[in-house]
Amino acid sequence: MGNCMGSAAAVQVVSQPSTALPSPARGPSSRAPSSCGSVYGRSVGSRASAEEAYPDGRILEVPNLRIFTFSELRAATQKFKVDYVLGEGGFGRVYKGWVDETTLNPSKSGVGMIVAVKKLNPESMQGLQEWRSEVNFLGRLSHPNLVKLLGYCWEDKELLLVYEFMSKGSLENHLFRRGAGFQPLSWSLRLRIAIGAARGLAFLHTSEKQVIYRDFKASNILLDSNFNAKLSDFGLAKNGPTGNDTHVTTRVMGTYGYAAPEYVATGHLYIKSDVYGFGVVLLEMLTGLRALDTNRPSGQHNLVDWAKPVLADRRKLARLMDPRLEGQYPSRGALQAAQLTLKCLATDPKSRPSMKEVVAALEEIESRKSRPAEPRDLSLCRGARSHGSAHVHHRSPYTPRHDGSRSAGRVSHRSPML
Ligand SMILES: Nc1ncnc2c1ncn2[C@@H]1O[C@H](COP(=O)(O)OP(=O)(O)OP(=O)(O)O)[C@@H](O)[C@H]1O
Ligand SMILES: [Mg+2]
Repeated sequence: MGNCMGSAAAVQVVSQPSTALPSPARGPSSRAPSSCGSVYGRSVGSRASAEEAYPDGRILEVPNLRIFTFSELRAATQKFKVDYVLGEGGFGRVYKGWVDETTLNPSKSGVGMIVAVKKLNPESMQGLQEWRSEVNFLGRLSHPNLVKLLGYCWEDKELLLVYEFMSKGSLENHLFRRGAGFQPLSWSLRLRIAIGAARGLAFLHTSEKQVIYRDFKASNILLDSNFNAKLSDFGLAKNGPTGNDTHVTTRVMGTYGYAAPEYVATGHLYIKSDVYGFGVVLLEMLTGLRALDTNRPSGQHNLVDWAKPVLADRRKLARLMDPRLEGQYPSRGALQAAQLTLKCLATDPKSRPSMKEVVAALEEIESRKSRPAEPRDLSLCRGARSHGSAHVHHRSPYTPRHDGSRSAGRVSHRSPML
């Protein structure tokens, strides 16, 4: 759920959202107390502009979360069976579990509905703070492009979170993993996913107390069975600046390769710092290349650094596009998307568009029905791409697949920066 990227740039640690924490589990079927979380200035309702622009989104007055006991979640996941592992991140492993649709009581495998259960690894660098942030932000935010948090468990040292199950997994897996179940995403699907994720971010930015997501990356964009995109992981989320302030000052946290330069350099976090992260993901979607990949030739490890000049050159753009698209994309749409990406990646946060503007630009690209470009010479693309399928493993020895089997891991982009 996000990592500390170093502390040297830290100027001041801004406290987490003021919280009256939900108390530890009090037994089955209990709900979070009404005092849970006072993340937002006002107790209810998102700002009028957000309501107009995103009528489906709202901020709940009280998180409506089920409090699970540890034994309930152990039962739902068949004792945290290794075959049920959906993935693993900095917080710990994520397991598939089965619960009753109405009561959310644990049920037998194959009965009721599937949920995703994230369990803190005691050796994790993350912990209570991220868990608390997830409960207090995601527990009250409701929008079609945000993953639904269903409940949580806090018993002694056990911290768990229970989410709606996103059957297609993360965008990261679809962009970068190979093998059955990971067919290349078409241009129109990529656009639809980008629009969904952009709407989620735009909702956060325009809500009552603007929320800065701070950990926008491909692994935090999850896809449901229809490839609808939803943002997950609010462990690093922060309330936006208040009054005349343009930014909040905070310890530098996030994921290497996605974090905005001003934030990494100064600890100053702007709403527009999220827009930079969005630009990095757009670039990954256009190119099929990871934000950070030490298997690429030297000088090309950081995607933004070397791809930015190429993005600005319309004649070279075709070389940059993901070969897995096989040229099946409208060249004008690709150019517009590249230009939008460049704007999002502007060095000065003030020059970046708002997420509302990003949504509008992406919708405009989607609405155009252009002819796909002719397939081009794919050999042009090879230089910059990873050789072979091996990736560096900095952290976990394997990344289980959604079917529970083990496969080669991905690059961990989240090594400490300093
Ligand atoms: N609600 C969910 N439904 C289905 N799969 C999920 C769900 N949440 C997480 N996963 C799977 O578990 C993986 C790990 O998720 P997690 O958020 O813990 O780590 P991460 O995003 O990869 O890394 P980080 O720790 O930086 O957030 C995801 O990539 C995804 O494949
Ligand atoms: Mg995540």
